Amino acid sequence: MAKKVSIIGAGAVGATLAHRVLESALADVVLVDISKNIACAKALDLSDASPIVGHERSIIGTDDYGLIRSSDIVVITAGFPRKPGMTREELVSKNASIIKDVSLNVKRHAPDSIVIVVTNPLDIMTYHSLKTTGFKREKVFGMAGVLDSSRFVYLIADELKVARSSVKTYMLGSHGDTMVPIISKTCVGGKPIRDLISKEKLDAIVKRTCDRGAEIVTLLGSGSAYYSPSAAVFKMIDAILNDKKEELVVSAYLKGEYGLDDVCIGVPCSIGGTGIAGIVQLDMSEDESKNFLRSAQAIKNSIKIL
Ligand code: LAC
Repeated sequence: MAKKVSIIGAGAVGATLAHRVLESALADVVLVDISKNIACAKALDLSDASPIVGHERSIIGTDDYGLIRSSDIVVITAGFPRKPGMTREELVSKNASIIKDVSLNVKRHAPDSIVIVVTNPLDIMTYHSLKTTGFKREKVFGMAGVLDSSRFVYLIADELKVARSSVKTYMLGSHGDTMVPIISKTCVGGKPIRDLISKEKLDAIVKRTCDRGAEIVTLLGSGSAYYSPSAAVFKMIDAILNDKKEELVVSAYLKGEYGLDDVCIGVPCSIGGTGIAGIVQLDMSEDESKNFLRSAQAIKNSIKIL
């Protein structure tokens, strides 16, 4: 039987993700939005392209949560995006009630699904969804580290004029202003990044990586990034549906790992058919550890607002 991915929210991230999943023929898609017409319109448009692209997957647009029944994966993208000048954290109160409502519907209609949260502020909304669904922590996690790491890789490769595939790095911590680049583990063609680039240049690249989402929000004027966020979610879906056990940075609920408890934060995890197959305990420098704990504290402070 074909795999089934439900996407909640037919905005730019949700619809672009639907496009990627459908046209890679990875799964059938249900696109849910409170605006039924928008979800239906995008589903019809994507369906009409299928004979041209040459796939036999199906997509349904709906406002009816009943149709997410027996989904393998539910991706939550619903919520307000940032406006220029806003931090992601300023969205807590606006998006918390949306995430609660969506998560209760997921619990009711797709209790066996794996949930990927995309709505900002990411780590806080992932925590909120985990607590609301009551699902096991292996089955509810957030997309951000894959995106933040990819932005960092792109900017390093662009600066050094090397292949993007030659750059290895980790961007951990919150998907917010306190995200933590793991410079001690960042290599280009196997060489430590510190030997290849000046501290000033590297600091500037780190800052641009952290601010990349806001840079795009400002340029767009309305809405936020969607090509790269949807690519990151797609990579996670592919790892799950093909049981790849791939090491990806996701926002995971910690129970003692990294000396932290009761917080969702970006850490490397093995992602496979059952969701999080394992949390990777990465060695960090003293400074990186300190920044990581500071990032966790910032997330915990925002969780208190929920
Ligand atoms: C960004 C959104 C996904 O970083 O938070 O572009």
